[in-house]
Amino acid sequence: MSTVVDALIANIFDRTAENRDGTLADYIPELAAVAPDSFGICVATVDGHVYEVGDTRLPFTIQSISKPFTYALALADCGADAIATKIDVEPSGEAFNEISLDPHTERPRNPMINAGAITAAALVAGPDVDSRFERIRRAYSRYAGRALTFNDSVYASESRTGHRNRAIGHMLRSFGIIAGNPDEAVDLYFRQCSIDVTCRDLSLMAATMANNGVNPLTQDTVLDPALVERVLSVMSTCGMYDGAGKWLYEVGLPAKSGVGGGVIAVLPGQIGIAIYSPRLDSHGNSVRGVEACRALSSELELHFLHVTRAARSAIRARYSVSDAPSRMRRTLAERATLDDVGNRGRIYELHGDLLFAGAETAVREIGGSEEGLEVVVVDVRRVDEVGGIARRMIETLRADLTERGCAITFVDPVGLLGNTHSNLSGSTGRVYADLDAAVQWCEDILLDRYCSTARQSRSVAVSEHPVLSSLSPGQLEWFTDDLETRTYARGEYIVRRGDGACGLFLLLSGQVSTTVTDQSGAVHRIVTLSAGMSFGEMTVILDSRFLNDVRTDTPVTVAVLTADRYAEMTAAEPELKLALLERLAVGAYEQLDVMLRSVLGQGGSR
Ligand code: DON
Repeated sequence: MSTVVDALIANIFDRTAENRDGTLADYIPELAAVAPDSFGICVATVDGHVYEVGDTRLPFTIQSISKPFTYALALADCGADAIATKIDVEPSGEAFNEISLDPHTERPRNPMINAGAITAAALVAGPDVDSRFERIRRAYSRYAGRALTFNDSVYASESRTGHRNRAIGHMLRSFGIIAGNPDEAVDLYFRQCSIDVTCRDLSLMAATMANNGVNPLTQDTVLDPALVERVLSVMSTCGMYDGAGKWLYEVGLPAKSGVGGGVIAVLPGQIGIAIYSPRLDSHGNSVRGVEACRALSSELELHFLHVTRAARSAIRARYSVSDAPSRMRRTLAERATLDDVGNRGRIYELHGDLLFAGAETAVREIGGSEEGLEVVVVDVRRVDEVGGIARRMIETLRADLTERGCAITFVDPVGLLGNTHSNLSGSTGRVYADLDAAVQWCEDILLDRYCSTARQSRSVAVSEHPVLSSLSPGQLEWFTDDLETRTYARGEYIVRRGDGACGLFLLLSGQVSTTVTDQSGAVHRIVTLSAGMSFGEMTVILDSRFLNDVRTDTPVTVAVLTADRYAEMTAAEPELKLALLERLAVGAYEQLDVMLRSVLGQGGSR
């Protein structure tokens, strides 16, 4: 099915196809034999989707597009420091086949020009040139996600005419940049240039670079991310030779061209682009390739300096504990306390990739919060990746807040921040898997500090139960005679979703939670009840089924008025029923208020 992106690319393809400027490379005779009007565009995403239009499966030789991939292999083999003693990373401003070294360093200025590329090929490890070439071919194949093959006729053609490159090879040997037989090094370079690729292959090779060195189709980790950074840096400044400055200004993507007619461009973290059109400009770059990349960059806003305002978006939501209370049911006094001091506890929900800028805005806001902040929750469930510096900044924030007496905890179910278990002891709280539990932790800290009276008691006697508080002494005596006392162990289900009315349950001690389980099997807490609270009333009053499970969080004691006894009693004593209903209605209304605030709270994201 064609998408808007297909249409965008096809439109650029159609417009660019009208351009017939440029000429085929003929200094390698075999290259002059290709069809000049061939033209293909591919855009590969880092999750493996490839948009393609035109001649995207037509094979042609990779030529200089091989250079970043061999440079990557040499970096991996020798290490960046060793490679840096042989090849610089400076744009030369010269043609790709300049027979020159930097006059001061006496080294090739960069690995994208032939002098640097031949040096890189010479530094690929292996016992002999054939095994080194096979390593190069396999490496390219891993970037492409399929076995690439060698083009004998183009190789023979370049080997027959490649005198300039042999001159470069002997110059490198004479300056001690390469050791051993320079003709062997040049021949290996000719062979790497003669590997056949298609436009689609190149887009996947580019997308592997965009995807931190991981092939988006095969998930094969081909290159270490730290080396990807180095290769892309050099492609940005040197990939288009003496056209690199204009390229970076107009297109703004790390790129590499080849006289075979290919161009690749990389938008790190997003896409790899490849274009095939063999007519070349004076720099040896594909004319349509440059024009199409310029159009793609402009119309898809790909310029790597066109950045989203990531810094401002790191914090998705921030709100106080009183804006979005936990589903732990509180007494009226506790609720009043939290309404009063809830602004001393704040929740911050982060999202996106946390690199320096995003982490900086988050820690600056959280760490710089107004005085009086006493407890903080940082929810990272919507964060995708956390950079090393971001993790260190957040750890520093945690330590600073803790030192200032502000408790902090994280909602981090997958351990993004490295806290794979609750190792944040003491007042810093634990690491939580869900936001609601973390908010309850906040509330408990604030209640411990500010709710001196009427805290939820650990247990209540039947006669003291708030649900019965509106009954007269006679009603109370009559009512309590019919109650059954039951005990449950921790983790027991008292009722299950769908159970019929089975009684009015008065909690005397312990805690229960009402929960629902979704299709994925995830259990969602609706509310946690403790001593002095009740459940089951609505099923008894309406003679309906339970809408949720009720499970004990701790050992529990309950007093139960069975549904049958409720029916008999309230038939015989209508005023008793009225008194009970009034009390239950007040409790239900309080709970509805808490639920609404919890669901509609600024985060709205339990
Ligand atoms: O070394 C050469 O001349 C060719 N094998 C490759 C040159 C090349 O692709 C220049 N890039 N546009």
